[in-house]
Amino acid sequence: MSQSPFEHAGSLRIGTVDFVSPDEIKVALDIEAPESVALNAGAPRSFPRVNSYVLIPVDDGFLVGQIEWLTVERSPFPKRRGMQDFGLVDLPYPLRKMSLNPLGTLRKASSGTNSEDEYNFRRGADALPSIGAGVLLPTDKQLRSIIESGERRRVKIGISPLAGNAEVCIDPDRLFGRHLAILGNTGSGKSCSVAGIIRWSLEQAKKMSGSFPNARFIILDPNGEYSRAFSDLNSPAKARIFKVAPTDGTAEQLLQVPLWFLNSAEWCSLTQASTKTQRPTLIQALRTVRDGQAEPTENKSHDIRRFLRTMLSIIRIEKNSGGPWGAFPKPKSFYEKLAKWKDGIEPVLTGLAGEEETALKTLVDNIENLCSPRRLPYAHFDFTRQEIDNLLSVASLAHSAFGGNEGDTIPTDVDAPREFKGESLLRSVEATAEMLNVAEYAETMLIRIRSLLADTRMKSIVSDTEDLTLQKWLDTYIGEDSAKSGCITVIDLSLVPTEVIHIITSVIARVVFEALQRYRKLNVVTLPTVLVMEEAHTFIKRYKEDVENQDAASVCCQVFERIAREGRKFGLGLVLSSQRPSELSQTVLSQCNTFILHRISNDRDQELVHKLVPDNLRGLLRELPSLPSQNAILLGWASELPVLVRMNDLPQSQQPHSDDPDFWNVWTGKDAEGGTVERKTDWKPIADDWQGKP
Ligand SMILES: Nc1ncnc2c1ncn2[C@@H]1O[C@H](COP(=O)(O)OP(=O)(O)O)[C@@H](O)[C@H]1O
Ligand SMILES: [Mg+2]
Repeated sequence: MSQSPFEHAGSLRIGTVDFVSPDEIKVALDIEAPESVALNAGAPRSFPRVNSYVLIPVDDGFLVGQIEWLTVERSPFPKRRGMQDFGLVDLPYPLRKMSLNPLGTLRKASSGTNSEDEYNFRRGADALPSIGAGVLLPTDKQLRSIIESGERRRVKIGISPLAGNAEVCIDPDRLFGRHLAILGNTGSGKSCSVAGIIRWSLEQAKKMSGSFPNARFIILDPNGEYSRAFSDLNSPAKARIFKVAPTDGTAEQLLQVPLWFLNSAEWCSLTQASTKTQRPTLIQALRTVRDGQAEPTENKSHDIRRFLRTMLSIIRIEKNSGGPWGAFPKPKSFYEKLAKWKDGIEPVLTGLAGEEETALKTLVDNIENLCSPRRLPYAHFDFTRQEIDNLLSVASLAHSAFGGNEGDTIPTDVDAPREFKGESLLRSVEATAEMLNVAEYAETMLIRIRSLLADTRMKSIVSDTEDLTLQKWLDTYIGEDSAKSGCITVIDLSLVPTEVIHIITSVIARVVFEALQRYRKLNVVTLPTVLVMEEAHTFIKRYKEDVENQDAASVCCQVFERIAREGRKFGLGLVLSSQRPSELSQTVLSQCNTFILHRISNDRDQELVHKLVPDNLRGLLRELPSLPSQNAILLGWASELPVLVRMNDLPQSQQPHSDDPDFWNVWTGKDAEGGTVERKTDWKPIADDWQGKP
């Protein structure tokens, strides 16, 4: 028994349009429309539920509507077909209705070579149906076409249960190119989605190219979950793992972030330097130490040259900031510095001769001329530009007399990651504080730096390893040429001390970003790299902008804000995962163009994600509180249409695992398989390690 196409369409009909507006279409369902499963449509087809799709024939195709709600209205009249039932008592009859959101148009593909029809889906409805139009249940083929249309479907991430289990595929260019946010409650499947998307993308890339992908994923992992997920050796998803305490005999390596990676803002927040005196001292000291000028020598004229050099650089900075003629007490403090420098230079004059002596003597005289009128009672301290320019030229002459040249005195970029040792920084801070005449104010900062350097927990991370160069760090952490050593870097932050975790995270993110920036500068093209941040709400947390002393958390957030704003230009994509989206920095979230939303039950977080989608698509988001884990809503730039996805299955061994404490097994001494569980408790090594005893 074959059906004509017309009859076929007729049998799928479930209702009639009885209200049309551009954003809502209401439908009265036919009495004989199936309740749950349609058996009259060739193959059993389940009756659409909320958020699934139905079709309404329009000009040259079908309008696709998404069901927003279904309801029953008590009709005062019996709903009948024909008029043959006169004689019966009229009873109210339940009439089923539903409301649809028009989503787009489904058209037959023009090719149509094979017997089966092909369809193309496009967003936007250019023709709305008229009242009385029939509403059809889509065939499986049509249903899948809604999701499976579109180009560049490169990596399958799951299926869509609402659309005939259509394959949901994404294009990595879109997914990673404009930042991705994965949001949802704990246990809703975020980490599995992160791990899955990375793994499936890499595996597909390997399949397409036949070789190892030239890819770079850097995972910042505060819970230490990902090392196990990416430990399989022969897959492209093989990871380099960096930890504070790597387990011996495994592929894990020691996490190292040298002190000299930190820029001046990071140093200031790490040492909690006060804005007024400590910060300028620290910055000047960093400049000297990055120059390699802080090391003491046996050679006297060398030391004098260094002294003069720092002096020149301080005078230049003061001049540029207008200090010597600025508001009181700036000129006075400049005068005090001069007096102090003079006291420092005078004693060394005695052992000198020739050109060196003359030049230094001239400098001392010049300083004395500046100081003497200001020693008088009620003297004013303001300096003139002329006086400062003179002082600069005399000091500069003295500097050359001791073998310095103009080039050395151009201040080094204080943020450039040039190697120095913690010890040298300490010395440089002491010397600079002395020169700036602020030794007593710098004392607290010095104490903090000393205790940081001595902290045993910090030592392994930031220790002065001679052989760790910038190039080596970039090779091991971002990856070598063509990602030979693997595509994934997992940076396990779980044991990094809490006082420094924000700084360490921000340094890593910033160095990666700046490295890619420089890569583009030298190579013109970008090096596509993805930076993954788990638990993003702790590192990318909203902060108060007006606070003068930026704490570590806001320094960290600012780095990610910069990456979110500019990363795309340099090929750096962000993937954020968070269970508290409402605490995330809005700047970062608003730069994310694709979202994978898992179950979200908190109302503040729901409110936030509602703002991310246009009005007529919010219906789908109402499912958020009831999504089972592993299910999510994909929306944004990487998806033609917001779609409910059931993510691919990730086998147990590839799932990220945090070590949840197993109370019961320890209490009862047995694990699920009947093996014994032991927890020996010996506090001595812990106490010794803690107190730094050998
Ligand atoms: N794609 C998936 N494949 C298999 N199991 C999954 C998947 N997604 C989630 N799960 C299950 O859900 C649990 C919680 O997922 P997880 O990613 O750890 O959640 P979250 O990171 O949001 O806390 C996992 O332990 C796993 O059993
Ligand atoms: Mg997780």
